[in-house]
Amino acid sequence: MTRVAILGAGIGGEHLTAYRALPDHFSVALLVDQDSARAEALRAGDGYRTETDISKALANPQIDLIDICLPPHLHVPVTLQALEAGKHVICEKPLATSLRDAHQIRDAASRTGRDVFPVFQYRWGPALATLRSLIREGSRRQASGRID
Ligand SMILES: NC(=O)c1ccc[n+]([C@@H]2O[C@H](COP(=O)([O-])OP(=O)(O)OC[C@H]3O[C@@H](n4cnc5c(N)ncnc54)[C@H](O)[C@@H]3O)[C@@H](O)[C@H]2O)c1
Repeated sequence: MTRVAILGAGIGGEHLTAYRALPDHFSVALLVDQDSARAEALRAGDGYRTETDISKALANPQIDLIDICLPPHLHVPVTLQALEAGKHVICEKPLATSLRDAHQIRDAASRTGRDVFPVFQYRWGPALATLRSLIREGSRRQASGRID
């Protein structure tokens, strides 16, 4: 059982719904939002506690996984803090907006031995389908010796 703290009660509410659907795997123990009424409003018989201070989740030894659903500017710093606190991380998109930040997160995950799962649910959308088709087309051209 993975014990989760969700940070942010906007899209965090959708994550909560997903965890509720997997009760054998995940238990949401904490929901953090500086707007405590927003965090409370999501409760539907759940046993989670609410906090307004992110550091409470990071310092809590009962938490295995920090699920970051905060505004984008907090993604990199809170991901790094969570890894340093020994937590696994799920982070809403964008995980980072520069290669430098992405590499810093990769290095911190490697050093702490924790996993980072960036949310990215557009694998099958039109943009990536187009990209995949261009890559396939490029491979076919390479294989046939044609260079355009
Ligand atoms: N994957 C998707 O399809 C999807 C959809 C929507 C949003 N998102 C991403 O999720 C993230 C959050 O988006 P949202 O729509 O839920 O935003 P939102 O503004 O509705 O919710 C963010 C919440 O974080 C809280 N918060 C902000 N700073 C805080 C702090 N320092 N301490 C505690 N709480 C704090 C706010 O009070 C707010 O309730 C964004 O990065 C966005 O890009 C992804």
